[in-house]
Amino acid sequence: MKTLIIILSLLILVACGGDTKSGVSEAAISGGNPANGEKLFDNRCLACHAIEADEERVGPSVAGLATESAKIINDSNYTGEAQTAEAYILESIIDPEAYLTEGYAPVMSTNYGDQLSEQELADLVAYLMTFK
Ligand code: HEC
Repeated sequence: MKTLIIILSLLILVACGGDTKSGVSEAAISGGNPANGEKLFDNRCLACHAIEADEERVGPSVAGLATESAKIINDSNYTGEAQTAEAYILESIIDPEAYLTEGYAPVMSTNYGDQLSEQELADLVAYLMTFK
Protein backbone atom coordinates (compact mmCIF):
# COMPACT_ATOMS: atom_id res chain seq x y z
CA MET A 1 0.00 0.00 0.00
CA LYS A 2 2.79 2.35 1.00
CA THR A 3 4.59 1.58 -2.25
CA LEU A 4 1.42 2.28 -4.18
CA ILE A 5 1.08 5.66 -2.51
CA ILE A 6 4.69 6.49 -3.31
CA ILE A 7 4.22 5.45 -6.92
CA LEU A 8 1.02 7.46 -7.18
CA SER A 9 2.68 10.55 -5.71
CA LEU A 10 5.54 10.17 -8.14
CA LEU A 11 3.11 9.89 -11.03
CA ILE A 12 1.33 13.03 -9.89
CA LEU A 13 4.67 14.83 -9.59
CA VAL A 14 5.64 13.71 -13.07
CA ALA A 15 2.28 14.78 -14.44
CA CYS A 16 2.66 18.24 -12.92
CA GLY A 17 6.36 18.62 -13.67
CA GLY A 18 7.08 20.96 -16.53
CA ASP A 19 3.44 21.81 -16.19
CA THR A 20 4.00 25.55 -16.55
CA LYS A 21 4.05 25.24 -20.30
CA SER A 22 1.41 22.65 -20.97
CA GLY A 23 -0.69 24.09 -18.14
CA VAL A 24 -0.59 27.44 -19.84
CA SER A 25 -1.32 25.95 -23.24
CA GLU A 26 -4.55 24.26 -22.18
CA ALA A 27 -6.00 27.49 -20.82
CA ALA A 28 -4.46 29.87 -23.29
CA ILE A 29 -5.76 28.39 -26.49
CA SER A 30 -9.40 28.88 -25.80
CA GLY A 31 -11.51 31.83 -24.78
CA GLY A 32 -9.25 34.45 -26.30
CA ASN A 33 -10.52 37.85 -27.41
CA PRO A 34 -9.03 38.72 -30.82
CA ALA A 35 -9.68 42.46 -30.45
CA ASN A 36 -7.65 42.59 -27.24
CA GLY A 37 -5.07 40.38 -28.90
CA GLU A 38 -4.71 42.87 -31.72
CA LYS A 39 -3.98 45.71 -29.28
CA LEU A 40 -1.41 43.63 -27.46
CA PHE A 41 0.17 42.57 -30.73
CA ASP A 42 0.38 46.15 -31.96
CA ASN A 43 2.12 47.18 -28.74
CA ARG A 44 4.47 44.28 -28.20
CA CYS A 45 4.97 42.30 -31.38
CA LEU A 46 4.39 44.47 -34.46
CA ALA A 47 7.89 45.94 -34.29
CA CYS A 48 9.27 42.52 -35.28
CA HIS A 49 6.27 40.98 -37.06
CA ALA A 50 4.51 42.62 -39.99
CA ILE A 51 0.92 41.65 -40.76
CA GLU A 52 1.34 42.26 -44.50
CA ALA A 53 2.37 39.18 -46.46
CA ASP A 54 5.60 40.32 -48.04
CA GLU A 55 6.97 42.53 -45.36
CA GLU A 56 10.08 41.21 -43.66
CA ARG A 57 11.01 42.51 -40.24
CA VAL A 58 13.25 40.91 -37.63
CA GLY A 59 10.72 38.09 -37.46
CA PRO A 60 8.46 36.53 -40.09
CA SER A 61 5.22 38.22 -41.18
CA VAL A 62 2.18 36.70 -39.49
CA ALA A 63 0.16 36.82 -42.72
CA GLY A 64 -1.27 33.33 -43.28
CA LEU A 65 0.03 32.18 -39.90
CA ALA A 66 -2.95 29.98 -39.00
CA THR A 67 -2.66 28.08 -42.29
CA GLU A 68 1.14 27.94 -42.09
CA SER A 69 1.03 26.68 -38.51
CA ALA A 70 -1.12 23.73 -39.48
CA LYS A 71 1.48 22.84 -42.12
CA ILE A 72 4.51 23.37 -39.90
CA ILE A 73 3.36 20.95 -37.20
CA ASN A 74 3.17 18.21 -39.81
CA ASP A 75 6.57 18.98 -41.29
CA SER A 76 9.31 16.45 -40.59
CA ASN A 77 11.68 19.29 -39.60
CA TYR A 78 9.33 20.53 -36.88
CA THR A 79 11.02 20.18 -33.49
CA GLY A 80 8.25 21.43 -31.16
CA GLU A 81 5.40 19.59 -29.49
CA ALA A 82 2.28 21.32 -30.74
CA GLN A 83 -0.51 19.25 -32.26
CA THR A 84 -2.76 22.05 -33.43
CA ALA A 85 -2.26 25.44 -35.11
CA GLU A 86 -3.37 27.21 -31.91
CA ALA A 87 -0.91 25.24 -29.81
CA TYR A 88 1.85 26.00 -32.31
CA ILE A 89 1.19 29.73 -32.11
CA LEU A 90 1.15 29.60 -28.33
CA GLU A 91 4.34 27.55 -28.27
CA SER A 92 5.99 30.08 -30.61
CA ILE A 93 5.17 32.83 -28.11
CA ILE A 94 6.05 31.17 -24.80
CA ASP A 95 8.85 28.90 -26.02
CA PRO A 96 10.10 30.44 -29.27
CA GLU A 97 13.11 28.17 -29.46
CA ALA A 98 11.05 24.96 -29.43
CA TYR A 99 11.05 25.44 -33.19
CA LEU A 100 12.92 28.19 -34.97
CA THR A 101 11.20 29.39 -38.09
CA GLU A 102 13.56 28.65 -40.94
CA GLY A 103 15.81 31.53 -41.89
CA TYR A 104 15.37 33.47 -38.63
CA ALA A 105 17.60 34.05 -35.64
CA PRO A 106 16.54 33.15 -32.08
CA VAL A 107 16.04 36.76 -31.00
CA MET A 108 12.50 36.62 -29.72
CA SER A 109 12.25 37.06 -25.96
CA THR A 110 11.84 33.75 -24.16
CA ASN A 111 9.87 35.07 -21.21
CA TYR A 112 6.54 36.12 -22.68
CA GLY A 113 5.09 33.18 -20.75
CA ASP A 114 5.96 35.05 -17.54
CA GLN A 115 5.26 38.58 -18.75
CA LEU A 116 1.82 37.91 -20.19
CA SER A 117 -1.19 36.53 -18.33
CA GLU A 118 -2.98 33.44 -19.60
CA GLN A 119 -5.80 35.66 -20.81
CA GLU A 120 -3.37 37.86 -22.73
CA LEU A 121 -1.77 34.79 -24.30
CA ALA A 122 -5.21 33.47 -25.26
CA ASP A 123 -6.08 36.87 -26.76
CA LEU A 124 -2.88 36.86 -28.83
CA VAL A 125 -3.52 33.32 -30.06
CA ALA A 126 -7.13 34.22 -30.96
CA TYR A 127 -5.93 37.27 -32.88
CA LEU A 128 -3.17 35.41 -34.71
CA MET A 129 -5.60 32.60 -35.67
CA THR A 130 -7.49 35.21 -37.73
CA PHE A 131 -4.54 35.26 -40.19
CA LYS A 132 -5.70 32.41 -42.37
C1 HEC B 1 12.68 41.17 -31.15
C2 HEC B 1 11.81 40.79 -32.22
C3 HEC B 1 10.57 39.99 -31.87
C4 HEC B 1 9.52 40.35 -31.05
C5 HEC B 1 9.36 41.62 -30.23
C6 HEC B 1 8.54 39.30 -31.16
N1 HEC B 1 8.98 38.30 -32.00
FE1 HEC B 1 7.97 36.66 -32.57
N2 HEC B 1 9.56 35.99 -33.63
C7 HEC B 1 10.73 36.72 -33.83
C8 HEC B 1 11.63 35.93 -34.67
C9 HEC B 1 13.02 36.36 -35.14
C10 HEC B 1 10.94 34.74 -34.97
C11 HEC B 1 11.47 33.57 -35.83
C12 HEC B 1 12.43 32.73 -35.03
C13 HEC B 1 11.69 31.88 -34.06
O1 HEC B 1 10.96 30.97 -34.48
O2 HEC B 1 11.82 32.14 -32.85
C14 HEC B 1 9.64 34.81 -34.31
C15 HEC B 1 8.66 33.84 -34.39
C16 HEC B 1 7.35 34.00 -33.98
C17 HEC B 1 6.26 33.12 -34.29
C18 HEC B 1 6.34 31.88 -35.17
C19 HEC B 1 6.09 32.38 -36.58
C20 HEC B 1 6.12 31.35 -37.67
O3 HEC B 1 5.96 31.77 -38.84
O4 HEC B 1 6.32 30.17 -37.42
C21 HEC B 1 5.14 33.63 -33.69
C22 HEC B 1 3.72 33.06 -33.72
C23 HEC B 1 5.55 34.84 -33.00
N3 HEC B 1 6.89 35.04 -33.20
C24 HEC B 1 4.69 35.62 -32.27
C25 HEC B 1 5.10 36.75 -31.56
C26 HEC B 1 4.22 37.50 -30.68
C27 HEC B 1 2.76 37.20 -30.44
C28 HEC B 1 4.98 38.52 -30.16
C29 HEC B 1 4.56 39.58 -29.15
C30 HEC B 1 4.08 39.08 -27.88
C31 HEC B 1 6.31 38.41 -30.74
N4 HEC B 1 6.34 37.32 -31.57
C32 HEC B 1 7.33 39.29 -30.48
C33 HEC B 1 11.01 37.98 -33.35
C34 HEC B 1 10.22 38.69 -32.46
